[in-house]
Amino acid sequence: MQIDILTLFPQMFQGPFSPGIFQRAIDRELVRVNFHNIRDYTHDKHHTVDDYAYGSGAGMVLKPEPIFEAVESVKSGICLEEEIGELPIILLTPQGRLFSQQIALELSKHSHLILVCGRYEGVDERVREHLVTDEISIGDYVLSGGELAAMVVVEAVVRLLPGVLGSEASPLDDSHSNGLLEYPQYTRPPVYREWSVPEILLSGNHAQIANWCREQAILRTLKRRPELLDKANLSLEERQFVDRLKGESSPSVY
Ligand code: 6GU
Repeated sequence: MQIDILTLFPQMFQGPFSPGIFQRAIDRELVRVNFHNIRDYTHDKHHTVDDYAYGSGAGMVLKPEPIFEAVESVKSGICLEEEIGELPIILLTPQGRLFSQQIALELSKHSHLILVCGRYEGVDERVREHLVTDEISIGDYVLSGGELAAMVVVEAVVRLLPGVLGSEASPLDDSHSNGLLEYPQYTRPPVYREWSVPEILLSGNHAQIANWCREQAILRTLKRRPELLDKANLSLEERQFVDRLKGESSPSVY
């Protein structure tokens, strides 16, 4: 996968993209990430990237020209017409659709992504109307720019690429991948400060352990994010289990 990131602050990306699985993905050539400074696509002496907003006059708005030219420059490096046709050009903005594991999975299937980092005050509307194909937000709060959001999207997408995670960890087990939060995890020692690991996990009975994990995932989701259960992939039996718990007056049982 190739990812091109258009930003006014390429230096912000220097730290987060070096360690761990990300570096491994780059070393194995599973992903290539290029940074483009939007300011490099200006033509005036002062390298102007923003200007006053028409109308209200409050705040500055990113000008369309450098953003269009930066995207067009990336596109000009693509040989295949069909690749350009399905190339997602994503604006990171608090007005976008809310990012999710489902969207990460969807994006991971593309061979190329362009991410455009907006600034909070705004981006000229013509960028939305005539350039980008998608807009993504990472949550209902305000960041000054799309850079941190772009890092979140890249991290979530890259770890889903085949070969990036070792075989020991399957992204399908992660919280959210099956619509449920993850069950509680334990490692050695079996007793720490008199706090014991649940006995069943030490039993060696794999079928019972799998049942326990599934039940714990459902209980945890019901307690913390009950709205997720509506869309989760549950068996009829599990649905009945949830309905029974919901019907009980005291929530302290879970
Ligand atoms: Cl993508 N950008 C900004 N500026 N703020 C955000 C965001 C994006 N997602 C949540 N808040």
